Amino acid sequence: MLLFGLIIVCLVVDVCSQACSGARCGDCLINDGCGWCKDSEFSSPRCAPINQLTDNGCVAVIKRKEHVVQLLQNDEFSDGGPGLEPVQIKPQRIKIRLTPNSQLRNVMVFYKIAKNFPLDLYFLNDPSYTMRQLTSSLNLLANDIANDIATLTTDFTFGLGTSMDKVVSPFTRQDPKYLATPCGTTSIPCDFPYSFIHRQPLTNDITAFTNAVRGVNTTGNQDIVEGLLDGLMQVMVCGDRIGWRKKSRRMVIYATDINFHHAGDGRVAGILQPNDGLCHLDSNGKYTMAEVQDYPSVGQILQKARENNINIIFVIGGTENEFIRNNYYDKFATYLPGGFNNASELTTDASNILNIVGSSYRRLRETVKLVMTKVPEELDVGIYSNCRTGRFLDKTNNCTGLTLEKWTNFTLFLFSNMTTCPDQRTVNFTIFPEGLEERVEIEVEHVCDCDCQLEPEAEPNSTKCNQRGTYECGVCHCNEGWSGDSCECDERGSETEACGTEAGICSNAGNCTCRKCDCFEGFSGDKCECNDLNCPYFNGKLCGGPSNGRCSCGSCVCDPAYSGKACDCMTSTEACKDSNGTLCSDKGNCVCGKCECSAGFRGEVCERCQSCPGTCSTNNDCVECVGFNQGEYNQSVCLSKCGNVETVAIFLEPGNETTTTSCILQDNFGCLIYYNVYETDTGRFVQVRSVKRCPPGPADPVTVGLSVSGAFFLVGIILLLIWKLLTMLYDKLEYSHFETEIKNPVWEKSENPIYKECVTTVQNPMHDIADVSHDEIANETSHI
Ligand SMILES: *[C@@H]1O[C@H](CO)[C@@H](O)[C@H](O)[C@H]1NC(C)=O
Ligand SMILES: *[C@@H]1O[C@H](CO)[C@@H](O)[C@H](O)[C@H]1NC(C)=O
Ligand SMILES: *[C@@H]1O[C@H](CO)[C@@H](O)[C@H](O)[C@H]1NC(C)=O
Ligand SMILES: *[C@@H]1O[C@H](CO)[C@@H](O)[C@H](O)[C@H]1NC(C)=O
Ligand SMILES: *[C@@H]1O[C@H](CO)[C@@H](O)[C@H](O)[C@H]1NC(C)=O
Ligand SMILES: *[C@@H]1O[C@H](CO)[C@@H](O)[C@H](O)[C@H]1NC(C)=O
Ligand SMILES: *[C@@H]1O[C@H](CO)[C@@H](O)[C@H](O)[C@H]1NC(C)=O
Ligand SMILES: *[C@@H]1O[C@H](CO)[C@@H](O)[C@H](O)[C@H]1NC(C)=O
Ligand SMILES: *[C@@H]1O[C@H](CO)[C@@H](O)[C@H](O)[C@H]1NC(C)=O
Ligand SMILES: *[C@@H]1O[C@H](CO)[C@@H](O)[C@H](O)[C@H]1NC(C)=O
Ligand SMILES: *[C@@H]1O[C@H](CO)[C@@H](O)[C@H](O)[C@H]1NC(C)=O
Repeated sequence: MLLFGLIIVCLVVDVCSQACSGARCGDCLINDGCGWCKDSEFSSPRCAPINQLTDNGCVAVIKRKEHVVQLLQNDEFSDGGPGLEPVQIKPQRIKIRLTPNSQLRNVMVFYKIAKNFPLDLYFLNDPSYTMRQLTSSLNLLANDIANDIATLTTDFTFGLGTSMDKVVSPFTRQDPKYLATPCGTTSIPCDFPYSFIHRQPLTNDITAFTNAVRGVNTTGNQDIVEGLLDGLMQVMVCGDRIGWRKKSRRMVIYATDINFHHAGDGRVAGILQPNDGLCHLDSNGKYTMAEVQDYPSVGQILQKARENNINIIFVIGGTENEFIRNNYYDKFATYLPGGFNNASELTTDASNILNIVGSSYRRLRETVKLVMTKVPEELDVGIYSNCRTGRFLDKTNNCTGLTLEKWTNFTLFLFSNMTTCPDQRTVNFTIFPEGLEERVEIEVEHVCDCDCQLEPEAEPNSTKCNQRGTYECGVCHCNEGWSGDSCECDERGSETEACGTEAGICSNAGNCTCRKCDCFEGFSGDKCECNDLNCPYFNGKLCGGPSNGRCSCGSCVCDPAYSGKACDCMTSTEACKDSNGTLCSDKGNCVCGKCECSAGFRGEVCERCQSCPGTCSTNNDCVECVGFNQGEYNQSVCLSKCGNVETVAIFLEPGNETTTTSCILQDNFGCLIYYNVYETDTGRFVQVRSVKRCPPGPADPVTVGLSVSGAFFLVGIILLLIWKLLTMLYDKLEYSHFETEIKNPVWEKSENPIYKECVTTVQNPMHDIADVSHDEIANETSHI
């Protein structure tokens, strides 16, 4: 389902292929489907797919501009003719505003053969003995050739030059006898050897041309291979001397029957200087640098042929020379402008020169191959045409079989492929039919910039950007050396210089931003060289905690209210003052907001002391009421006032931090009460010994009486007990006597002399009241 949705989105918006990115509007819009939000207040990414921008509430969405194709010059086709400029290709100048990364495929270029397009035809002949037939044929056929050409164009010129070889050994023999008769015979006129002679500038005067042909004498050289490339180079580069017209079909008929010398061969004759590709003809048309400069290379020939739009037609004489033709000249020809050239075979009598010239020109005229100058890498230009099928476009730059009536239509596809806008916004290039001087100038401008990026909409050195950048499209584009949303960040100078330390950038404890160290948590200092966790602790907190101070570079930076190494000291002395405003009651020093009391003094403001007057006396009332429930305080006052007083049997051993004052109090009874007053940091408490010591006083009559009677009674009891003990011992003795007598009974029970009745009844007048007790008393008395 998700995938399906994604595909739909991709199809509709075409954003999936291209991510939108770019810090500037133009860079953003390089990507197809992307837009830029230029609202001054916009928090989402400004470069995003267009629908996303509108979803995020952007009002001013900048979109890509469309391609614009403008024809700056579009002259109609013209057949030319006397006094008329022929036009074969149109338009001539095009300006294209190209949207980046999007294809433009409707730029048309049309080509049509002009009927009377000018033709410049130059014959470069090899004047060796074996080629002498060509000279005579040309002489004979010049008019026929002219007539043939005239059926194709009314505007043509002919020119002539001959080229042999460098007059230096080993290319040409140097002995005077040879030089006098280089052809080896005196029967024919033979010229002194030469490299190249330009004999007839291009002219429409056929008689002048034939006269020049007639004046060519044979000449000779020593080696087989010949130096015609020297001559060919001069023909191509000596434009004014040769007479090439600006806008014409330029053809060189290069006729020889032998292979050519090329660059490097000159070394054999000690010629090391390379060919400079420049014109060196003297006033007689003679090449002057033949014996100084080396032969040109094939590459130089190709380059000059392209530069000067020269179509070279190789005409190779001698049927026996097929190998040379196929292996050298045909291959050479395929690289030459025109592309359809191949070497033609000249018959022995050279009579087919008429044909060769005519058909070569027709073949050139009936083909067109559009080529272009180099375009920058980011620009891709394709040339398409329907000339092959007549209907569908093929990617081809060449068409054959052109006729005078038919247009050949080419379509250019342009595509710029870039990830950033190139500095060079306009690109010029030229499209032209190969081998012809006609041009289509194309100027491509990459429409990379948004209007808001350009003045007047953009504000250079804007105050919104700290005057260090341009405010454009809602954001700052900072000048060189600055960055940040408002160009507040200085990026000048090197990072190492600004932030480097021996331990690394920002001591390896921070980021170098804006050429300043942005330290990680716990580090500080210009280069993060300070460890901010390495400070004294107080109360278990770094610098006493955030309320007291903070750790900076190994030492505490305290709040104004605190001081000390660990911000452990309160600077305020308020806490040291008593109610009168005296510091520590003048009995100590106020240190770090707390009183340090002199010996013997205690309390927040040293208000308590061991030997202060009243230490004991103020406690007397409580001591009396708690210890002995006596004195001034009644029960309820005692409970409320004397919470710090307790009664103990023995005084406790006080702690180290406690000072003890021993007190003695004499109460109203004259008794001595012993108690201790303890002072601790937290307060004062009192212990009272549970026993007081009293002096011996006058005896109490009741007590005395009781003790006297008690003593008498005690003595009585003791005497009684002694008496009882004695009687019991006597009784036991008597009983043992009695038992011995019972064993031999002599007496009657009643008559026993020691038997006595236990109970005696006595008449008592108070009998009625206490009968029982009387009985008891009587009983007891009787026992006594
Ligand atoms: C060709 O040779 C003839 C006879 O030797 C001479 O008169 C004529 O000047 C020569 N032509 C050229 C162009 O040297
Ligand atoms: C030269 O090219 C033409 C046309 O392509 C062809 O007909 C002809 O045979 C070629 N000639 C030689 C010598 O290759
Ligand atoms: C003509 O175009 C076709 C197709 O692009 C190509 O294969 C061929 O080489 C071209 N011919 C020349 C002479 O450039
Ligand atoms: C070339 O383009 C022109 C103008 O658009 C048109 O009239 C002509 O038919 C086209 N020719 C071909 C061969 O497509
Ligand atoms: C664009 O350029 C990149 C890198 O230069 C290349 O990989 C990519 O294929 C090109 N895309 C097109 C459509 O030419
Ligand atoms: C391109 O051509 C136009 C007009 O022909 C010219 O103004 C511009 O400077 C040229 N640009 C480059 C980069 O050559
Ligand atoms: C912006 O400021 C720079 C440096 O101060 C200066 O060189 C430049 O000319 C200024 N540009 C404008 C448009 O004021
Ligand atoms: C330092 O940079 C890194 C990576 O850019 C970043 O993750 C980190 O948050 C930055 N730290 C500070 C303190 O700026
Ligand atoms: C405070 O002032 C009063 C009267 O001025 C004085 O009696 C008392 O002793 C003072 N107390 C202290 C602690 O200085
Ligand atoms: C205790 O004494 C206080 C004042 O001396 C007095 O107000 C109070 O009534 C007495 N309480 C009793 C229960 O006698
Ligand atoms: C009291 O002082 C003694 C000796 O000075 C010491 O050994 C002991 O630890 C102290 N006790 C307390 C609770 O401070």
